[in-house]
Order: sequence, then C-alpha cells, then structure tokens
Amino acid sequence: MRIDILSIFPAMFQGPFSQSIIRRAREKQLVEIHLHDIRDYTRDKHRRVDDYPFGGGAGMVMMIEPVEACMEALQAERSYNEVIYLCPDGELLDQPMANQLSSADNLILLCGHYKGVDERIREHLVTREISIGDYVLSGGELAAMVLTDAVVRLIPGVLGDETSALSDSFQDGLLSPPVYTRPADYKGWKVPGILLSGHDRKIEEWRHEQSVRRTRERRPGMM
Ligand code: ADE
Repeated sequence: MRIDILSIFPAMFQGPFSQSIIRRAREKQLVEIHLHDIRDYTRDKHRRVDDYPFGGGAGMVMMIEPVEACMEALQAERSYNEVIYLCPDGELLDQPMANQLSSADNLILLCGHYKGVDERIREHLVTREISIGDYVLSGGELAAMVLTDAVVRLIPGVLGDETSALSDSFQDGLLSPPVYTRPADYKGWKVPGILLSGHDRKIEEWRHEQSVRRTRERRPGMM
C-alpha cells in the first residue's frame, strides 16, 4: 500500500511514523508513506496556502490551487482508491471502515487547517470524508495519523502474529476480554484461576463470556 499525505505541517508525522508498528511496516516495505508539504505547491513568493473567507467571518480558508497542484502531480503517476479529507463532519471512522481501507493500493489523505478547506476541494477533488470522532482537532494531521495507524496494522504481514488483529476489540463485533501476565499473584491481586488451568476450551469459553459481558456493560449499542 502507498499513502500520500498532504499537510502544511508534515513534520508532525515524523515521531509517530518512525516508531512501533508503522515503522516496522515501512521497513518491511508493506507500506510506503509519503509526506507532502502543501506549501511546496504554491506559486506565489509568499507561499500562501490560505486566504480570507468570501462573505467575511473569522478564520482562514485553505486555498484550492496548491492542494489541486499537489494532487494532480500524484494522480499523474498512479491512480488512487480514495482521496480522503479528514474533517470533523466526515463519516465516523470505525473498524469496518479501517478493514475496507486496508485493502486499498493507493490512498491520498488531505489534512485541513484553519476554518477548513475551500468547499470546491471537497466537491471536486475529494472522494471520501472521514472524522475520527465527535470533537474538533486543530487540524487533520492527528486524525490522519490515527487513520493511518488503524489501517496499516491490518495489512497482512504487518503484525507479527497474524491472528492478533483478528482478536482485536471490534473485529468480531465484541470488545476484547481482559488479559493478564506474570506474576499470577501480585500483592494478593490474583489472575482468574481459569487462565492458569491449561484447559484451552474452557479458557476460550471464559474469554468469550468476558467479551460479551464487557460489550454489554460498556458498549451496549454494539450488540
Ligand atoms: N479535523 C479536525 N477535527 C477532526 C476530527 N474530529 N476528525 C478528523 N479530522 C478532523
């Protein structure tokens, strides 16, 4: 998979994308992530990417021209499954959406700022609008990182143990059961005995019951 990210703050991605699972996925060449500074696609000497809103009002609006110039350069090289704009009024990101996006070959992620982007970008250049939750971030960058992480970890081969994404919360419509490791007794706080029993079938049953209970208690809407 190839992900092209358009942002006016590309340096924000350096930490998160050079650690942990995303780093490993990049090293194994299971994903290529390319960051593009929208400012590099401006044509005026001030490298302006935003301007005042028509009709007045507070805040600046991201201009169409540099965004389109960057997208055109990318789309001249390959075709993209989706051109995604991260915004608070997009479709809410969930696990089925991450699963679906994980089979894409090429994605463009556009990070907006200020009051948003010129509506014509959304109408004519973007194919999908995604929100990571009902709250407002200062820009789309953190949302693009969240989306990238949720998608990349699902690409086959990225996680060491192929089954571990399958047992994630949400993957089977249930939350994950609790997990424990050594010591079995920490200051009197004990691990449930069933997990120490060696009885695989009973352990599976217990985990399933715990998943169902957790989901009923914490996310009744999922059931
Ligand atoms: N940009 C600002 N807030 C956002 C959100 N909640 N999701 C995606 N992009 C955003």
